[in-house]
Amino acid sequence: MPVQYVTYEGIKFPPAYNSEQSLSFAHNEFLVRDDDIFNVTYPKSGMRGTVWMTEILSLIRSRGCPSWSQGVLNSDRMPWFSTRLGLESALSYPSPRLLTCHLPRHIFPKSFSHSSAKVIYTLRDPRDVVVSYYYFSKMCSSYEDPTSFEQFLGDFLSGELPHGSWFEHVRGWMEMKDMENFFFITYEELKQDLRGSVRRLCQFLGQDLDDEAISSVVQNASFAAMRENPMCSSILLPADIMDQTKGQFLRKGICGDWENHFTVAQSETFDRIYQERMQGLNMKFPWDR
Ligand code: A3P
Repeated sequence: MPVQYVTYEGIKFPPAYNSEQSLSFAHNEFLVRDDDIFNVTYPKSGMRGTVWMTEILSLIRSRGCPSWSQGVLNSDRMPWFSTRLGLESALSYPSPRLLTCHLPRHIFPKSFSHSSAKVIYTLRDPRDVVVSYYYFSKMCSSYEDPTSFEQFLGDFLSGELPHGSWFEHVRGWMEMKDMENFFFITYEELKQDLRGSVRRLCQFLGQDLDDEAISSVVQNASFAAMRENPMCSSILLPADIMDQTKGQFLRKGICGDWENHFTVAQSETFDRIYQERMQGLNMKFPWDR
């Protein structure tokens, strides 16, 4: 059965959790607090919307103690404030709140502009994003089952997938790159140096963690530890939402898996469109050659 996506401001959202009302509320009425911390990503950038950063930020908040992240679902630790259920949790969450979303910059809460709330934006090699998103769409019933990788890649490149265009998402958020309440990091940097990345995050958040606490964050946010943690591995989601027989949410957790999926022709097309769409941004990411 085709999935009936919710559409808001021309962008499709999965229907299971989103409604036009929740998105409109998040955009127009949600009151951002100065001490809010937002975890923002395009899907599949390292976090069920960011499961990896959710884990890292929760562990920093608990100063490395894993009991919160092992005892409470990630979506309750960092509510998805633009979704129906997440909104309720966000509104009753005591300050300072940790909040998550996949929203592009132009439909992020308007009240953010007048606040000193912090945004952490994680991005990933878009070729690995599309591969991860493809497998995720196969197992998650809120997403249309892709007919082929070729079709899915075409939809990714033309911005037709739920949550809109990766290019627009990244470009929109990168307009904030020089603001002091904005921090961006890549999945590739997290992979290459998790400890150094956690230190940088602590500095941005004004959290002074000692070496032992940092080691605990690094250990508990490792791919292996997260796979073992049902509070973030999505294993507890009902089978009619996430069909675990079709794959694993924490699938491979590596950089460069796109090379196992793209044909030479697909790679050339991707590079051409990437160059066109990223033109003028004047930023170098780890995957840029
Ligand atoms: P793969 O499908 O490439 O394995 P999101 O949380 O945005 O949906 O992104 C999920 C992606 O992040 C998956 O990518 C998942 O394995 C990866 N991921 C999550 N936690 C990770 C970790 N601790 N280390 C490496 N990758 C991680």
